[in-house]
Amino acid sequence: MQLERILQKHGFGTRKACRSLIRHELVAVNGQISDNPFAEIDTNGLIFTVDGVDWPYAEFASLMLHKPSGYECSRKPLHHPSVLSLLPMQLRERDVQPIGRLDEDTTGLLLITDDGQLNHVLSSAKRKVPKVYLATTKHPIDQGQIDQLLTGVLLNDEPEPIAAAACEIAGENLLRLTLTGGKYHQVKRMVAAAGNRVEALHRESIGELQLPDDLKPGEWRWLSAVDMKKLGYLA
Ligand code: URA
Repeated sequence: MQLERILQKHGFGTRKACRSLIRHELVAVNGQISDNPFAEIDTNGLIFTVDGVDWPYAEFASLMLHKPSGYECSRKPLHHPSVLSLLPMQLRERDVQPIGRLDEDTTGLLLITDDGQLNHVLSSAKRKVPKVYLATTKHPIDQGQIDQLLTGVLLNDEPEPIAAAACEIAGENLLRLTLTGGKYHQVKRMVAAAGNRVEALHRESIGELQLPDDLKPGEWRWLSAVDMKKLGYLA
């Protein structure tokens, strides 16, 4: 693929803007400055550098973000900044979007992609991808609440009770629960229906993919092939 086209695909602006970056010797290919916008580059395993920042060639931009509190998952947020504002401009230019939504005050693992198929597969209700949440509750958790959450609680507007796939006491006011659905405010509504109240909510994992300990709130990282496997997604 032509170098100019690679930059354009990765969100570095118009062809003209990309050409200018290359002509100004701001672009390196596998460590070597390249000033030819029309050079044919093998994209297999390619790392290119723009103005000192390394970029892996990525057919799709798929990443994980440690969502901090105070950000909305919408592309057009109403009251708080969008999670997308935490990403470099080049990724936003690629039209990435969150896979599913976390509430503004929920923290933890959020996946973001411009790969429509990945988004579809992971959001699909049929696939029942398990998501693990850690909820801090207002009142101490008791076994009765756990039992209710495991048996199923009735939520407004839902025809049938909804049960957690797994649920355990993780501390006096800490509840770890696994859901396979993604209904609006589902954890908060389920915990309220069981007679408690969520004061803080954090998503620890999606499928087998855990939020890495060293990914701090507000930080993001590319999804690797291993991560994709943990999500049960082999493109
Ligand atoms: N359930 C909720 O109530 N809120 C979230 O952000 C995610 C799941």
